[in-house]
Amino acid sequence: AAIRVLVFGAALRTGSTNARLASLAAGLVADSGAEVDLARMRDFAMPLYDGDVEDAEGLPPGALALSERIGQCHAFVISSPEYNASVPGPLKNAIDWVSRVRPQPFKTKHALLLSSSPSMIGGNRGLWALRVPLEHLGTRVYPDMFSLPRAHEGFTDDGRLAHPGAQERLAETVSGFMRLVCADVRFVCLHRRWYEF
Ligand code: FNR
Repeated sequence: AAIRVLVFGAALRTGSTNARLASLAAGLVADSGAEVDLARMRDFAMPLYDGDVEDAEGLPPGALALSERIGQCHAFVISSPEYNASVPGPLKNAIDWVSRVRPQPFKTKHALLLSSSPSMIGGNRGLWALRVPLEHLGTRVYPDMFSLPRAHEGFTDDGRLAHPGAQERLAETVSGFMRLVCADVRFVCLHRRWYEF
């Protein structure tokens, strides 16, 4: 069976540069031979986490749907904006809801973190913040990350990165990540032990 990778754009707005970066990364993941599941935050509507809601109604359908999509993949890629030097509220809220699902789907998954922002830092500080809950949940977050600065002018009309060096670095980051994912999945298959999905 093919290696499956969920590629997730974490911003809600229609014109999101992170959705564009996620699409571009999805193409690069597919180039490595993996099966891609491209998704966006807005596909998974959910209320703010509230223990009373969880007690009364269980997990909201959006959180269950996202959890299922994560559960079906070997690895995931998130492209997220940075809000006030940290993780955007909707993404943290989604992580909190999904962390309540058992078996907890983030555990043992590989993750690659991407960001884009109109700033010169490209939203990179938010990715350091995003590592914390993901690593807490047992996700194997890839050490290298990619942040696209000046994202509002960062794309060509055909969806590639306008700066050739940036395009090359993104491709290298994705292929390095996929090499690790493939090696790990092969190791697990070789030893006849399976991920919990
Ligand atoms: C931002 N933005 C922002 N950008 C950044 O580089 N560092 C930051 O700390 C913040 N903080 C911030 C807070 C809030 C509340 C908003 C709404 C925005 C700008 C942000 O990067 C910009 O809106 C991006 O375009 C968001 O990504 P999408 O929507 O293009 O994917």
